Amino acid sequence: MTPNRAVSDDIRARLFPFPARHLTTVLDLKPPHVTALLDLADAFVELNRQTAKTLDLLKGRTLVNLFFENSTRTQSSFELAGKRLGADVVNMNPRTSSVAKGETLIDTAVTLNAMKPDLLVVRHAGSGAPDLLARKVSGSVVNAGDGQHEHPTQALLDMLSMRRAFGDVGNLTVAICGDVAHSRVARSNVALLTMMGANVRLVGPPTLMPPAVDRWGVEVHHDMRKGIEGADVVMMLRLQLERMDGAFVPSMREYFRFWGLDHEKLKHAKPGAKVMHPGPMNRGVEIDSDVADDPAVSLIQDQVEMGVAVRMAVLASLAERLEQEAGR
Ligand code: NCD
Repeated sequence: MTPNRAVSDDIRARLFPFPARHLTTVLDLKPPHVTALLDLADAFVELNRQTAKTLDLLKGRTLVNLFFENSTRTQSSFELAGKRLGADVVNMNPRTSSVAKGETLIDTAVTLNAMKPDLLVVRHAGSGAPDLLARKVSGSVVNAGDGQHEHPTQALLDMLSMRRAFGDVGNLTVAICGDVAHSRVARSNVALLTMMGANVRLVGPPTLMPPAVDRWGVEVHHDMRKGIEGADVVMMLRLQLERMDGAFVPSMREYFRFWGLDHEKLKHAKPGAKVMHPGPMNRGVEIDSDVADDPAVSLIQDQVEMGVAVRMAVLASLAERLEQEAGR
């Protein structure tokens, strides 16, 4: 079964070589690249809504998923993205591979490189791990989340979700709320949203703000209702308990009372405001199920759908870049 001709022609017309060999940080992108990537991703959304979803843009290419940290949606969406573009996809599980026997990240990279992957998707607890790998392999490295540093494809899929809900993101006020200190999602979103002209606010208790937050160049609020006042988008972050080695919050009940998003607090945002969350959610901790599951306000399921399309756009565009470098 082949996809609708108009859809695949549209995708081919929007393809462009990625501006860099790797995607480790959103800071390597410029506004026109972001717009071109999201335009391409829009076309992939159309493809993904058809019965026939596979193209041959990555035929012959090998994609390796290397996830040193747990993941449900990010890993499966990269896998689906690679498969829908026709690549051979391998999921390496470092917990059962030689890494568990003490092999270093560099040894793993060198070993993998000998198998000639074209695209290496990496998630690692160490900030900067994808950059280190990028220096050791000949294919393209995509950062799927490194420590508390960056998660570029999450910020891109969040932006695609906002653009489809509101149109231009440059006019939006986005309140990013909760555990900013431990969040790579917040870091990539602040960088990408401010680059595209959006007004960004960080909202949360002082204990969950990063130490040098005053240098991030965005407003910081320590009162939830004030922080989301008039916001178009309220983006909730997961309380990252696995990254906390001390007590950052008195109790989950207290946290929900002050920082958990429910319909009452949401009333302070702009009428028509949308709610986002990268998942996985701690229901009843940072977000109330009544809000998360309300299709009138929640973009959470859209974010998951956009994740596959954005990752297809990134992979297809990186493959174009590899073709160009090979002089084909
Ligand atoms: C995020 C991550 O892993 O950084 N999740 C995701 O990619 N969907 C956010 C989180 O874990 O809270």
